[in-house]
Amino acid sequence: MNRIDLFPISTKIENDTLSIAGHELAVLAKEHGTPLYLYDRATMDAAAAGYKSALASHYPSAGSRRRPFASVTYAGKAFLCTAIAQWSQSHGLFVDCTGEGEIAIALAGGVPREHILVHGVNKSIHDLKAAIQHAGTIVVDNLTEMKNVAACITTEVVTTPNLWLRLLPGVAVDTHHAHTQTGQHDSKFGMTREEILEAARYCREHGLPLNGIHFHQGSNFRDASPLVAAIEIGLDLAVEIGFSEEWHFSPGGGWGVAYHEDELPQPDMNEYVRVIAENVIAGCKKRGLTLPHLHLEPGRSLVARAGVAIYRVGAVKRRGDKVWILTDGGMTDNPRHAMYGARYSCLPVSGVGGERSEVVSIAGPYCESGDVVIEDLPLPKVEEGGLIAIPASGAYQLSMSSNYNGARKPAVLWVEAGKVRVIQRRETVTDLLARDEAL
Ligand SMILES: Cc1ncc(COP(=O)(O)O)c(C=O)c1O
Repeated sequence: MNRIDLFPISTKIENDTLSIAGHELAVLAKEHGTPLYLYDRATMDAAAAGYKSALASHYPSAGSRRRPFASVTYAGKAFLCTAIAQWSQSHGLFVDCTGEGEIAIALAGGVPREHILVHGVNKSIHDLKAAIQHAGTIVVDNLTEMKNVAACITTEVVTTPNLWLRLLPGVAVDTHHAHTQTGQHDSKFGMTREEILEAARYCREHGLPLNGIHFHQGSNFRDASPLVAAIEIGLDLAVEIGFSEEWHFSPGGGWGVAYHEDELPQPDMNEYVRVIAENVIAGCKKRGLTLPHLHLEPGRSLVARAGVAIYRVGAVKRRGDKVWILTDGGMTDNPRHAMYGARYSCLPVSGVGGERSEVVSIAGPYCESGDVVIEDLPLPKVEEGGLIAIPASGAYQLSMSSNYNGARKPAVLWVEAGKVRVIQRRETVTDLLARDEAL
């Protein structure tokens, strides 16, 4: 398949060089430095619209104000900053925030209380207090946390968030790596069936506003069929808990995107939404259960394709059969290959159409042999001092970035036709020292 189809939808090749939303990547790199990240608004808008239209086609009343409703929740862990939080509200999305830090970013971006949903596997008391103060919903991960929530709801609390319970369905999805699975029986996430029923009893006895069930089976899968068994378990629990009117059901997120041309075409989000919606509707009918408000929680499939990383090539080394292209970006802005062998592809910014005559590996400047982003990729010739662009870089890269070796986090651009905005400036040495205290 065509490598260019991994890039944002507004990508063009003109005069053998790459541009996105009408902006030449070489010019952006010259003006803003490298390593550089950009997010293409058109690609993000299309993804959000795609989810909404799929829900409107497959779930009753989705897209209207009538009930039940269906909503798209952006999983902020994929990448959250003030501008992305603002963008989420231009589509009326809910925002999944993990803990007090992401809640603060969502608030800075103007996300209203009713759209803030708080996740986390072992939330601290600070996280819970921030969630109770600012969120519309808290998804409770375990019984200890449920008791902590109860303890934090003091008489001063004016609005108590809705509480949902995170189910561990014990059903795995195929994500290609164990570290991106969350729903299998021995996962650290969520509660077993028995724990869910105990937590529901606790809520009843303590007058807590329990009104939803959530599960999330893993991240970056393209076969939706394992969701069916988990949906059945969730609906059985809804009956046992006694949900009737006005309840919420969230089968999480995790729909995949293509990172490498071998994985094209892009997974079809309409098919993912259809499988969920049809099984929720049929499962509720079978059980005589009121249709829930349905919440989907995509992160990666909303932003990954919109993001592109641009690196400058330094030295090129030949070691036996191996050709190392050494770049100024690497595991500190993209730890995904080092963490779980994620595969990527790339193109040179200029000379895009050249013959892919050499098989190369792309490694960063950091003091780890594992500081590798791409392995064994056929690529047109790239000169020292040239630029490469890595597609599908919008999710779980910058949000997992680090300052290893004193690395400064890259600048992030927002691009649309006729407009480029810096939405995160490049970190500086002063930023690196900002938390330090002398002895
Ligand atoms: C609870 C929860 N919801 C949603 C997501 C989003 O997953 P993805 O970005 O793969 O769609 C995650 C990711 O791990 C998650 O843990």
